[in-house]
Amino acid sequence: MKSDQISQTAAFVAIKFYGLTKIDSYRSIFNNSIIHFYENLVKSLPAPFKFYHFWLKFSWIRYLYIWGEELLLPGDLLHVVARKWYIQKIAQQFVEKGYTQLVVLGAGFDHLAFHYCQQGLSCFEFDTPYMSVLKRRFFIDNYPDQPHPRIIQTYLPEDDIGIMFDRHLDPDKKTLIVAEGFFDYLEPETVADSLNELNNFFSHKPALISTHFALDELPLFHQKVFEISVRLVGEKLQFHTSMDDLNTMLSEHGFQISQLYDAEDIRIDLSDKLSTTLPVLGGFYVFSAI
Ligand SMILES: C[S@@+](CC[C@H](N)C(=O)[O-])C[C@H]1O[C@@H](n2cnc3c(N)ncnc32)[C@H](O)[C@@H]1O
Repeated sequence: MKSDQISQTAAFVAIKFYGLTKIDSYRSIFNNSIIHFYENLVKSLPAPFKFYHFWLKFSWIRYLYIWGEELLLPGDLLHVVARKWYIQKIAQQFVEKGYTQLVVLGAGFDHLAFHYCQQGLSCFEFDTPYMSVLKRRFFIDNYPDQPHPRIIQTYLPEDDIGIMFDRHLDPDKKTLIVAEGFFDYLEPETVADSLNELNNFFSHKPALISTHFALDELPLFHQKVFEISVRLVGEKLQFHTSMDDLNTMLSEHGFQISQLYDAEDIRIDLSDKLSTTLPVLGGFYVFSAI
């Protein structure tokens, strides 16, 4: 993607989360401040994205949207709610273990840094210059009297993530890095360089929470739908890596997976809580590594 355009994949994560949490069972597993964050967020997106704020209030539109999405890429919708739910849950465990600095890479329109900023953690979001401008404006307009995360404009691999860390982060704080839906958009060398920086920069070993799409686990038709839908919005999946290869790459850079949830774990965990029969996208993983 270009550094001066909105990330439509990021906008649609927020829109899908907003639409699904209009349904009571989905809404009930998140706290109200998170639900309100995405309501404010979708309303303040540039047109035409902000029109979803109005249209997704109607249940028949939501059902039409769900039907269309499930036809093309089954499990795509539920995976969005799942990643927000698991990442919030795992992040909370690290915060309770004394991690005081939170870094969200490729933050998009995510709520996590804002959420933990209210609890006094040092919170940073890294994203492209255009996305950073949109996010900063969103915080100023919607939460003028609350603390905001520091937003650092970074476009990889043009910008050196190590230099950015050096300029802004405290290497001596216990740090939690969240890279939700981020590495997929980078070339493998850029992911390796970033992991290397994460491993070397901090004096205490940082914890990493991330998602992974192992596209090789999807049927060919769904792989193509996924890739084409990302390409149609001006972005490109570049990190084509199986879960085994990701595991190897993480260990080469000093990280061992400590928690791992695959599509089946997620389905078992969430289908009762959400009273849903929607599937979860095959090949989708949420993990933490330390
Ligand atoms: C799929 S979105 C995920 C957004 C958010 N983490 C979430 O899950 O809701 C990917 C994010 O990575 C950012 N991104 C993509 N390529 C990037 C690059 N080369 N350098 C910096 N950020 C990038 C995009 O702007 C976007 O916000």
